Amino acid sequence: MKGIIFTEFMDLVEQKFGLEELDTVLSLAGDDGVYTAVGSYDHKSLVKLIVQLSQRTGISAQDLQRIFGQSVFHNLYRSLPTNSSLQNCKSTFHFIKLVEDYIHLEVKKLYPDANPPSFDFLSESETELVFDYLSARCMSHVCLGLIEGCANHYQQTVDIDMDNRVDDGSHVRFKVRLVG
Ligand code: HEM
Repeated sequence: MKGIIFTEFMDLVEQKFGLEELDTVLSLAGDDGVYTAVGSYDHKSLVKLIVQLSQRTGISAQDLQRIFGQSVFHNLYRSLPTNSSLQNCKSTFHFIKLVEDYIHLEVKKLYPDANPPSFDFLSESETELVFDYLSARCMSHVCLGLIEGCANHYQQTVDIDMDNRVDDGSHVRFKVRLVG
């Protein structure tokens, strides 16, 4: 997992819970906290940090993933080069398709060791997009938060249903409905 995901996560913990809490969580997870944005690290280290933070704050690991996704969207978006496909994109559904068809592909080209999730699109209407999230990293609640952050960016309101297709969370069906 790219270091930018770790540095963004640590920034969020510091901002919401303070530097002392971040230090405690890192030390409980046996983590030295040394990450660079372009380095690559085992995604399990991020899971460990989330588990420790969850135990200390009483906020579920799923909710922490979701809050992280919501807040990281804007920084990921800002890191994108401006080009015509991005400028022409005016909606949440369109952006989610760009993520699969263009953004995550570019991420893989830039960093061959990166492993973003893949989306398998099943159906789309004006008001509903159904797709499967596929990832061995099982971070579907980060995905949920990112979609919410994306909808917020396009000033749209969405209602999201998630349906685990396998127990380990590596295959989750997302039904995103536009409600405003
Ligand atoms: C609606 C918007 C987006 C969604 C739903 C989405 C989904 C995800 C999820 C769920 C992950 C966590 C890893 C996993 O589950 O396997 C991830 C990783 C990642 N995403 Fe996205 N993403 C979005 C937008 C973006 C944007 C705008 C960028 C800009 C560069 C980006 C770059 C990355 C990178 C670098 C990783 C780490 C991959 C790795 O190191 O293995 N994503 N994405």
